[in-house]
Amino acid sequence: MREKKILVTGGAGYIGSHMVKALLEQEYKVVIFDNLFRGYQEVVDVLQKKFGTKNLSFYQGDLRNYADISQVFKKEQIYGVMHFAALCLVSESMEEPEKYFENNVLGTLNLLRAMAQFSVGKLIFSSTCAVYGESQYLPVDEKHPLNPANPYGESKLMAEREIYWFGQLKDLKYVILRYFNVTGASSGGLIGDSKKPSQLLVQNAVRGALNIEPFRLTCPRVDTADGTPIRDYLNVEDLADAHLKALNYLIKGGKSDIFNLGTGQGNSVLEIVSSVQKMIEVKFPVSRGKARRGEYAEIYANIGKAKKALKWKPEKTISDSILSLVKWYKNKPDGWSY
Ligand SMILES: NC(=O)c1ccc[n+]([C@@H]2O[C@H](COP(=O)([O-])OP(=O)(O)OC[C@H]3O[C@@H](n4cnc5c(N)ncnc54)[C@H](O)[C@@H]3O)[C@@H](O)[C@H]2O)c1
Repeated sequence: MREKKILVTGGAGYIGSHMVKALLEQEYKVVIFDNLFRGYQEVVDVLQKKFGTKNLSFYQGDLRNYADISQVFKKEQIYGVMHFAALCLVSESMEEPEKYFENNVLGTLNLLRAMAQFSVGKLIFSSTCAVYGESQYLPVDEKHPLNPANPYGESKLMAEREIYWFGQLKDLKYVILRYFNVTGASSGGLIGDSKKPSQLLVQNAVRGALNIEPFRLTCPRVDTADGTPIRDYLNVEDLADAHLKALNYLIKGGKSDIFNLGTGQGNSVLEIVSSVQKMIEVKFPVSRGKARRGEYAEIYANIGKAKKALKWKPEKTISDSILSLVKWYKNKPDGWSY
């Protein structure tokens, strides 16, 4: 059954690890490539224990070094690639833009070079709504102008353009998935999010409610009804499902394309905090921390194109995501160890 081997870059990170689990559950073989800068050996160990080292192998390496990534293609018969490895903290990118261009743009280029050298022609890329910047209309569809408001978004847009050109000039078919905000843990509680520090709102609000660490609002004041930014929160398992469908789409000969992934609905930061408080039945204090730079008021997705072409739709509600996070953090309040 397990014939096709998928390389998952960044598979020891938050979203990548959920993708690895979903692929293994669908009987793919998986190779993780990760430098463990923001990923965790422990999640690799947990997944290898559950699915077996024959089905899941791990290479520690850095995409900024061509030799690291090309040796994986030399040793493994890779069928397709899902590329999650990136630095992805907006505020960090405003402080250290050079790190973002080096890691996300050079890293993607090395991956594309290796794929071309070893004739691997299927790629699914984790992009982001940050490529759009401040929304000019809502909901944001794939034709919305591209105007990143921070180096993180710009670096992902540059990576998209690299992929586009390799698609034009080499034998590469790709799907670029522009995710909006991602949240939740696996519904069974096996794996979750361990970002330290996290900038992911729902995760932080659940940690605040469970008394793991104090919750602080780190969003700037913006021009929305309650003064906090509105975002579109997609469950991580729904997101992984969209990738499986995108892979099937490419396997069936679908043309290279770009799709938004979200729920199609926006929630303000304070709405999310109040949902978490209601569901967990804890009223925790909400204080203001240092406001993040590079943020804007409101964005949520038009997901009509992904629904139609990939035959996908989100199944989980924000309450499902909150419950999955409660399960995860109760089990592992400190997250994965290094
Ligand atoms: N989390 C979100 O809400 C969100 C939203 C939109 C897009 N994305 C995109 O999804 C992807 C995954 O995000 P995440 O939240 O899981 O982040 P994460 O930081 O948890 O995972 C990224 C992984 O990539 C690895 N990595 C980074 N640079 C690397 C390099 N040069 N070589 C090898 N490995 C490297 C890290 O060690 C980490 O394990 C990113 O590409 C991000 O841009 C995330």
